[in-house]
Amino acid sequence: MQIVQAIMRLFEIHSRRFETIIQPRNVALAYFRSDSISPDIGDHETDHPEIRNSPKNFEFISACTPEISEQILKDMIVIDDFLSESEEKSLLEEAESQIQRVRYENEENWDNAIIGYRETERKNWNSENKKILKRVRDLAFPPGVSQLVNVHILDLAKDGYIKPHVDSVRFCGDTIAGLSLLSSSVMRLVHESQKDPVIDILLKRRSLYIMKGIARYEYTHEILKGNQSVFKREIVERDRRISLIFRNEPDEE
Ligand code: OGA
Ligand code: MN
Repeated sequence: MQIVQAIMRLFEIHSRRFETIIQPRNVALAYFRSDSISPDIGDHETDHPEIRNSPKNFEFISACTPEISEQILKDMIVIDDFLSESEEKSLLEEAESQIQRVRYENEENWDNAIIGYRETERKNWNSENKKILKRVRDLAFPPGVSQLVNVHILDLAKDGYIKPHVDSVRFCGDTIAGLSLLSSSVMRLVHESQKDPVIDILLKRRSLYIMKGIARYEYTHEILKGNQSVFKREIVERDRRISLIFRNEPDEE
């Protein structure tokens, strides 16, 4: 019975990936960087009364009107140092103990949104980690929202990366929250149909991001390859990165 459940679980994870809208793009956006702008303003108010977003972590690469950058800063929130070093270590230990049995996938298939990764899901965390994860859930999701009980654990190898995609609306609701462990990285948002604007976002090690609204639905997101991992002209060293991703239930059709 357990074997059947394990197979069902694997299929579920896999089918969610299949459902993602994948739009590989090979444009070398580095050329546009000289045009990039960052709003020269301080901390930014969000829909969450207790959270202020920091525009420092955003690089508006192209064609962003003030209205669009405003909207992005409302719908994509990045909180640096959300985790302490000891909290990161504690989460890592538990995530590692489960994921070390999984093999990395490296295949460059058209249907693979992620290259150089392994993944699993975990529901029952130890009590210390439960407290940390609750802090994420309470911040990212309003009270009463049905959240997926499993935390998605995604382990990207040092040379792993995520191609542009929008998380399937069939398997995921309106909010996606992610903790970055072990390595900083650059997440890129690209307008889904017009391919413009493009916004790069610095996801520091131990930060939390909360993606919703237009950032969730109207933009693809991706994690850049190590050799393209540049933010505001500075190289962002990529190492193996583990993300813990939280989602809510899909909207009723
Ligand atoms: C995903 C994804 C982003 C991250 O798994 O769909 O976009 O932060 N992950 O790892
Ligand atoms: Mn995604």
